[in-house]
Amino acid sequence: MSGSGTNLQALIDACADPAYGARVVAVGADRDDIEGLARAERAGIPTFVAKVGDYSSRGYWDRALADKVAAFEPDLVVLAGFMKLVGEKFLDRFGGLTVNTHPALSPSFPGMRGPAEALEYGVKVTGATLFVVDAGVDTGAIVAQTVVPVEDDDDVESLHERIKVAERAMLVESVGRMAREGFTVVGRRVRLGGRTSIE
Ligand code: GAR
Repeated sequence: MSGSGTNLQALIDACADPAYGARVVAVGADRDDIEGLARAERAGIPTFVAKVGDYSSRGYWDRALADKVAAFEPDLVVLAGFMKLVGEKFLDRFGGLTVNTHPALSPSFPGMRGPAEALEYGVKVTGATLFVVDAGVDTGAIVAQTVVPVEDDDDVESLHERIKVAERAMLVESVGRMAREGFTVVGRRVRLGGRTSIE
């Protein structure tokens, strides 16, 4: 993660119930001193940081990030508000097992300005998309989407806040189902249930 970590907090809260079927084994970030790391520490969850600037190239950072994640042997990696693109080395290890949320309805408005671009375009509904991370920018196979209205008096902040409420619910619901039921990815089609497999 890179920022405030409300998606992370929603997952931590959901995991407090054993029936949820998942556990956050570690929280990683690409910077120190962020609220997301503090949230993990308060919940007693191990944390790690991999900063791009501490490595001589983006590729070395990517490999170090993959190593740090691998040390915790996760079944699923959730990029929750992670503002960096993971690279080839990371995807070699965790491709198909890494999901990310995007605050727009893919394939609309990929990138860092999803809520702002939805507002500028004048769409009447937008939302959030949970997807299996691939090498593109918010292009991966879609696990779930949630829709929110755009109100006449919205600014970027009010719209993003409304999206985030729906996004957290979608994330908690979908990650729980992925953990409990498994999931399959065939081409661009993601199906919940069945033994986890990627074709
Ligand atoms: C979320 O809306 C997430 O979708 C977005 O940042 C917010 C993080 O909120 N991520 C991206 O735009 C990634 N390109 P949080 O830190 O409170 O979970």
